[in-house]
Amino acid sequence: MANLELRGIRKRYSGAKETIKGIDLEIKDGEFVVFVGPSGCGKSTLLRMIAGLEDITGGDLLIDGTRANDIGPAERGLAMVFQSYALYPHMTVGENMGFSLKLAGVPKAERQEKVLEAARVLQLEKLLDRRPRDLSGGQRQRVAIGRAIVRKPKIFLFDEPLSNLDAALRLQMRVELAALHKELGATMIYVTHDQTEAMTMADRIVVLNAGRVEQVGSPLDLYHHPKNLFVASFLGSPGINLLEGKVTRLDRTGLDITLRHGGPISVPVKSGGLRIGDTATLGIRPENLRVEEAGPLSGKVLLTEHLGGLTYVHVKLKSGETVIMQSEGSEPLRPGDELNLAFVFETCQVFHQDGQALEHINRHELVAELEASSSAK
Ligand SMILES: Nc1ncnc2c1ncn2[C@@H]1O[C@H](COP(=O)(O)OP(=O)(O)OP(=O)(O)O)[C@@H](O)[C@H]1O
Ligand SMILES: [Mg+2]
Repeated sequence: MANLELRGIRKRYSGAKETIKGIDLEIKDGEFVVFVGPSGCGKSTLLRMIAGLEDITGGDLLIDGTRANDIGPAERGLAMVFQSYALYPHMTVGENMGFSLKLAGVPKAERQEKVLEAARVLQLEKLLDRRPRDLSGGQRQRVAIGRAIVRKPKIFLFDEPLSNLDAALRLQMRVELAALHKELGATMIYVTHDQTEAMTMADRIVVLNAGRVEQVGSPLDLYHHPKNLFVASFLGSPGINLLEGKVTRLDRTGLDITLRHGGPISVPVKSGGLRIGDTATLGIRPENLRVEEAGPLSGKVLLTEHLGGLTYVHVKLKSGETVIMQSEGSEPLRPGDELNLAFVFETCQVFHQDGQALEHINRHELVAELEASSSAK
């Protein structure tokens, strides 16, 4: 069992402003939770407070229901893997992996058994006698994870463990870490800047911003139902397209937004206090845009980026705003081409002037409500 609970956690480094401004979060046994957020928002600080490497200024940290604020890092049953894996260069892979057990006074036979077990999980058995300098980056990273595994921690904490690796190795390690999580069934908290890692590995993503939690949820929930502009813009690569407009119709089925150039666009969202004439922002994911003669957005191609399986087409709209369309395969468009873009209105997001996303209307509820009101007449 390894549940983790953060209650009103705060951090102020001496002489500095508050870095972590009150975080409440529950992480369940066996969960894979990913922290994302802009540089400097406090991800590493939060992880280090959980690990016991930083004092907690305020609030309570509970591990399996026991307050752990004042428990030393070694006694918390956690292991942390950093971006810079800092292996001991003069020790073999096996010695590196077993070193913490040696320090803890674990007898040699037991140590060897645990190292072998970790090496099997990480496919390092054939490399146990090598020195770190004779390993690839991915192999070194696996040794660093091996050092954590041998201690049989209840909770693994990873701070951008793959960011030093090239793209192919990252992909391989991502798959291996996901398999490792399955095999060990351990609770894992993982910090990353990589969108794909966050989306593919997480059971739940925690989006942090300036020391606060913006939203917590499953990757697809956050992608499709962001609470606000910050979360919508943070997740997705290329990012969500944002177009400014004015509300020109409002009723119980949704609202119309007339863009600076194009529209009205009818979206089934609740008004969230908006009135006719108010400014609102329409959010359209790049994969939702397509070329269509009768589409409501007119513009000119600025640039096409061919990724092989996908093409990103940057389009400058007549309003002066730029959007990115993602299409499958190789799009034959060229810079300067004029086109119209269409999209499915229902899947768009609408944001209030204050940045909050407007809630989508549940079609079934609306139909039931309309039926109830018509039968009452
Ligand atoms: N030891 C320290 N003393 C004072 N301020 C610190 C200390 N460590 C971090 N900070 C500050 O706390 C804030 C959060 O830092 P932190 O390292 O947690 O950010 P992060 O989200 O991990 O960023 P990155 O994505 O760049 O790694 C930053 O403004 C940083 O300058
Ligand atoms: Mg960091």
